[in-house]
Amino acid sequence: MVGNREAMDVRTDCKNQVRPRLDLSIKVDKVRHEYTSRNGEHVLALDDVSIDIPSGQFVAIVGPSGCGKTSILNMLAGLIMPSRGAVYVDGEMVNGTSRAVGYMFARDGMLPWRTAQANVAFGLEVRGVSRSDRLARADALLERVGLKGFERAFRSQLSHGMRQRVALARTMAIDPKVFLLDEPFGALDAQTRIVLQEEFVRLWENTGKTVLLVTHDISEAVAMADRVIVLSARPGRIKSDITIDLPRPRDIESIRFDEKFARLARRIWRDIGGRAEGGMA
Ligand SMILES: Nc1ncnc2c1ncn2[C@@H]1O[C@H](COP(=O)(O)OP(=O)(O)O)[C@@H](O)[C@H]1O
Ligand SMILES: [Mg+2]
Repeated sequence: MVGNREAMDVRTDCKNQVRPRLDLSIKVDKVRHEYTSRNGEHVLALDDVSIDIPSGQFVAIVGPSGCGKTSILNMLAGLIMPSRGAVYVDGEMVNGTSRAVGYMFARDGMLPWRTAQANVAFGLEVRGVSRSDRLARADALLERVGLKGFERAFRSQLSHGMRQRVALARTMAIDPKVFLLDEPFGALDAQTRIVLQEEFVRLWENTGKTVLLVTHDISEAVAMADRVIVLSARPGRIKSDITIDLPRPRDIESIRFDEKFARLARRIWRDIGGRAEGGMA
């Protein structure tokens, strides 16, 4: 009997050769996605998109508005299912929301009736972590994002940048395997934006987690990421995949004056906005 079972296991393994590599933290596998709007019109958002991200890599996706960037993150977060193809996080096919993923948006999403501390602790509360443990963890994280002394503050008492810091602490609190960031610094003024980019990278460099950042800011992508993927205009397809071989740890502010940075940014700029193909109609 045991022999039979072993034989069966081997057969199953052979059949499952399409399973994702275990060292891949994120896999987007031949994804096509079509939306149907209320008037029945079909919108092809993504077409044949494949992305492999090894564990611990920081990847940025850039591309014109409407090319399907948010759709990719929503699939990885289990909020929508691709029309064709599949996505995997940490070796598992995504088919619903998962604890492996921490999602952060341009909107801070702070609950206005809760203090900063209670906002950061919220995800831990849902997971049944004891009150003393979750408050201790929230306070430690608030300190790490520069908000010591603001534990009892409410949303209305915090600046935009401080609210995003709370959002960052809240995302870190649940200790996800993968960070999905959808233009998280997009609504901030230029100065605060760079400060928060810098803080995020500093926090990330100590965790070794995988990050997928969506942005339309080329400088942000090059300054922060190990790799930048450029999507074409809708339907989004991979246009280029560029390694950002700038040294780490990085000084996000001064790296912008680096010659190599300028070269990489220019290359991506050309890939995104490059002259229309096809010539005259
Ligand atoms: N729920 C939806 N219903 C219909 N169309 C949608 C829906 N969500 C997104 N789209 C369309 O799909 C395309 C890709 O959207 P999205 O992933 O949000 O792009 P991006 O984040 O790159 O701006 C856009 O053209 C958008 O209008
Ligand atoms: Mg978007």
